[in-house]
Amino acid sequence: MKIARQAGALRLVALVSALVVAAGAQAGEVEVLHWWTSGGEAKAASALKATMQGKGHGWKDFAVAGGGGDAAMTVLKSRVVSGNAPAAAQIKGPSLQEWAAEGVLANMDAVAKAEKWDEVLPKAVSDVMKYKGNYIAVPVNVHRVNWLWANPAAFQKAGAKMPTTWDEFFTAAEALKKAGIIPVAHGGQNWQDFTTFESVALGVGGVDFYKKALVQLDPATLSGATMEKVLATFKRVKSYTDKNAPGRDWNLATAMVIKGEAGMQLMGDWAKGEFIAAGKAPGKDFVCVAAPGTAAAFTFNIDSFALFKIKNADNQKAQSDLAAAIMAPAFQEVFNLNKGSIPVRLGVDLAKFDDCAKLSSKDFVADAKSGSLVPSIAHGMAVPSATEGAIKDVVSQFWNADKMTAKEAQTRLVAAAKTR
Ligand code: BGC
Repeated sequence: MKIARQAGALRLVALVSALVVAAGAQAGEVEVLHWWTSGGEAKAASALKATMQGKGHGWKDFAVAGGGGDAAMTVLKSRVVSGNAPAAAQIKGPSLQEWAAEGVLANMDAVAKAEKWDEVLPKAVSDVMKYKGNYIAVPVNVHRVNWLWANPAAFQKAGAKMPTTWDEFFTAAEALKKAGIIPVAHGGQNWQDFTTFESVALGVGGVDFYKKALVQLDPATLSGATMEKVLATFKRVKSYTDKNAPGRDWNLATAMVIKGEAGMQLMGDWAKGEFIAAGKAPGKDFVCVAAPGTAAAFTFNIDSFALFKIKNADNQKAQSDLAAAIMAPAFQEVFNLNKGSIPVRLGVDLAKFDDCAKLSSKDFVADAKSGSLVPSIAHGMAVPSATEGAIKDVVSQFWNADKMTAKEAQTRLVAAAKTR
């Protein structure tokens, strides 16, 4: 009896080991660099981790905190230079081409073909994911940057009206201030200054001005009267922020609106991920409206992962599975519900999404048709990274230096726009 039981147990051990070995032959590991560390972002990132683990692969989290990703990009550069690239890294827009030109990215055409990416992605998006016609990256979402987030209870207390123009914005800000509420929640970090700046530029100057100034970097537009007005309006926003804004992380600024300490925040819809993670309901506890003057335009910011050349065959398999998983409809749904963005894949059912996401999706399509879909310069979509960095610095210097005139800032902007 005892011997038979032991033999049975041994057979079971052998069977389990065989299964583990079989699974082990398939399983690899992906190291994934990203900067999704806030509440909503981390929830979205963990959906990706769970998906990969569900496929039997290991997940090595390479999170580098810092909104907008500047810190993450610095760390990534040193890792790649030392020959130790992660399998995937959050890289976006024109930077994808810059990395591909270094010869460090992997060709993902086999996955793209099998998963029909050309058919399920808008062409404007798939073009950015390709280098010399080959896929080197996979997109995950579409964020809209030109949003204003507001706390309706704070507005009610102040007797203020939700603004649709910059004049109304400042009227509301004044009322909030009188009611003892911080009008604008802001974090004084250069990418946040820049995020505010581009929404002001779009709202004050309009779509054509935005394209000429911040996409084509036209010197006459950068030094013209409209840009002067944009800079003056931008600086006026600062007077409605609090004295603790310098250095504050964006999600802490969002938390101020969540708690009603502040009335509004100008931020992309990753901020919605924070409201949702805090259990707040759109339309009731918080409101999303287009940044003043921008209802008929859409500043897009598409998150994507570049896939690096890696050696180990199991890890290469894991990398391909990661790319396929990111584009799968079920993942697009769960990820974007947490992230605050909308699916980048065409035809994903939006039934579970809220009204902010539905508006974003409707406007994305309408603005693509009308030509008012514009790339976010603050989030790496519009110009080469060196140019972006130089312009961003000027914008923050202007925001911070009390004595710099708009004219002076314009002279610097023209010079910065030539940086490559
Ligand atoms: C990224 C978002 C991220 C945000 C704040 C943006 O540049 O595209 O995914 O949530 O920065 O970190």
